[in-house]
Amino acid sequence: MQKPKADSIDVKVDSILKIMTLEEKVGQMNQYNGFWDVTGPSPEGGNAEKKYEDLRKGRVGSMLTVRGTEQVRAVQKIVVEESRLGIPLIIGFDVIHGYKTLSPIPLAEAASWDLEAIQKSASVAASEASASGINWTFAPMVDISRDPRWGRVMEGAGEDPYLGSKIAIARVHGFQGEDLAAVNTIAATAKHFAGYGFVEAGREYNKADIGSVTLHNIVLPPFKAAEEAGVKTFMNGFNELNGIPVTGSDYLLRNLLKNKWGFKGFVISDWASIGEMTTHGYAKDLAHAAEMGVKAGVDMDMESYSYIDELVNLVETGKVDVALIDDAVRRILRVKFELGLFDDPYKYCDPEREKNVIGSKENQEAVLDMAKKSIVLLKNNNKLLPLKKKGQKIAVIGPLADDNNSVLGSWRIASKDSSGISVLDGLKQYTGNDLMFEKGADLLTNEPTFINELAFNTTDTSGFEKAINVARNSDVVILVLGEHGFQSGEGRSRTNLDLPGVQQELMEKIYEANKNVVLVLNNGRPLVLNWAANHIPAIVETWHLGTQTGNAVAQVLYGDYNPSGKLPMTFPRNVGQIPIYYSHKNTGRPVDPQPGANMVFWSHYSDVESSPLFPFGYGLSYTSFNYSNLNVEKDSYALNEEVQVSVELSNTGDYDGKEVVQLYIRDLFAKIVRPVRELKGFQLVELKKGESKTIKFSLTSKELGYYDQDGNFTVEPGEYEIFVGTDSNASLKTHFILKE
Ligand code: NOJ
Repeated sequence: MQKPKADSIDVKVDSILKIMTLEEKVGQMNQYNGFWDVTGPSPEGGNAEKKYEDLRKGRVGSMLTVRGTEQVRAVQKIVVEESRLGIPLIIGFDVIHGYKTLSPIPLAEAASWDLEAIQKSASVAASEASASGINWTFAPMVDISRDPRWGRVMEGAGEDPYLGSKIAIARVHGFQGEDLAAVNTIAATAKHFAGYGFVEAGREYNKADIGSVTLHNIVLPPFKAAEEAGVKTFMNGFNELNGIPVTGSDYLLRNLLKNKWGFKGFVISDWASIGEMTTHGYAKDLAHAAEMGVKAGVDMDMESYSYIDELVNLVETGKVDVALIDDAVRRILRVKFELGLFDDPYKYCDPEREKNVIGSKENQEAVLDMAKKSIVLLKNNNKLLPLKKKGQKIAVIGPLADDNNSVLGSWRIASKDSSGISVLDGLKQYTGNDLMFEKGADLLTNEPTFINELAFNTTDTSGFEKAINVARNSDVVILVLGEHGFQSGEGRSRTNLDLPGVQQELMEKIYEANKNVVLVLNNGRPLVLNWAANHIPAIVETWHLGTQTGNAVAQVLYGDYNPSGKLPMTFPRNVGQIPIYYSHKNTGRPVDPQPGANMVFWSHYSDVESSPLFPFGYGLSYTSFNYSNLNVEKDSYALNEEVQVSVELSNTGDYDGKEVVQLYIRDLFAKIVRPVRELKGFQLVELKKGESKTIKFSLTSKELGYYDQDGNFTVEPGEYEIFVGTDSNASLKTHFILKE
């Protein structure tokens, strides 16, 4: 099928716009949530009646959370057959890491540094969601964050704008494919524009104060990358930024995104964030909030009821120019055309496809592949891993070991609870060893849900004894501890990043009984793990890996898959170090004390080392790699020339394996102080044992430049250092000069 041409779409959009009433236009800018069963009795009471009525009157442009071909067809039918113009709805949903078949949480996927796999994972999610009636996801979240207290770090790609931008592009391409009109692709959303990852003290929904250099160099690049990758929609954040709720920020939305970057898609508010501008103390009432939202550039209102209730009047009283309404509606209709909804509003409503695609063998294999790639080996003393496949007594212990629900992670509204494979079930498939299981303790004392607070077991250690006995009688203990899957995500900020509940105590007791412990971590954010890092010989970071968790973990522990993941976020030594990130800047004082000096006037903490527990980019393999011969082709380059860098990588260990070769630069002296290191290149390289390869990078002005305080991109002449290696502490170093 020929793709519709953009200009022909614009002509069609304009012809529709001409016959729309003001109320119908405003209706397109209105999105409602619908948890109800469209085909059955409504649990929403009167509220649902208003929504049904608005659907019939063409006062709704989009629904969210309605899903399943039957439901979507039913709601679409009301609009198409009963409203005057029959403009189809766009159906949005949070498809964050899979739809029903779940891939790892996004932070875990980021740990793979495998862009192809990440793109594939998003395309699997798109194919399942689209088979279920959905044609628009509120993903990817591209918020950079350096604060693991913030629960939503699980939804992003971590702390680094370069890695974050590459992943943003991969995800947008994965969701949207090459042809948005294809039945298995959906529109994506870059969210939350902008600064939400910098909420103060990591407290959810808090304000963000971000200087312009950080805003332009750290926060905005992944959004720009998503825009350039053709993302169809943006979502604004809940936060205020430097005193202005971003929902009402014409600087961000109108000036930067739409005018400067030339974004042609549409902007959706976050849930009720237009209305929330009154609570912020920025709008005096809902009408004022609607006025500011539309003027700033928010094209669609999610669940504030502000546009639908206020905009007609605001236009009629002259407060809002109808041209702004037309612009918003044009943007929304254009995406609906691009999705092919005008050709066939029911195109995503094929029950046959729904049955065949969702949960297919192929999708299960894809998420398993992604899950294995997301695992990070943090420690492996005495080569405790991989486990021997025969003749061992293995104890599996821990509150999360036999949990097939927590492994799914947060943000998985469409998938069935407890539909994951637990670590224990994954391990059971390796039948050559004796496997004994004892939970040891519960993590929670209540039923976990996405929306309610969790209650933790902080007292009941009655199961310890049995677990200790099992540990004593085994050769190796696999200890599965961490955060519950619902402990991260929206509304899940923490001030303490230790293992919750009685898990630390359990770990210490088990270690006392048997030193051969493999700690398998389940968590949605960096944790503080000093004791474990000092004592436990093997630590495997498995995050929340989704449906196939147990299979992925078992394959890694038994060496059928050699881990290659690398941390996309720094793991601190304690919460007081936060924000801690590799690309920090030097102060005017040294970061290291003078040898032998005892004075305090250097940049440090008196009570803890400045370094993190595990740095950004860190991760081990069962094999070992050696880096040598780092070379820059020339000593100096002209400003617009490409800098050619090469390094030799050798697999010096006993296994075939993969390594993420990382390149960092430092601009030694500039008009704005530059970070001590910035990631500017990486490559995932596969090497057989004993094999060596020369890896090449080329750096262009895109990598070497930066944004100044006004957001202008600049490349400065001067000296640059290059570091290449296995993580952000890479020690192989060279340098070059950029000439005027
Ligand atoms: C609020 C969240 O902040 C946003 O990311 C999400 O897409 C919407 N709710 C819709 O569920």
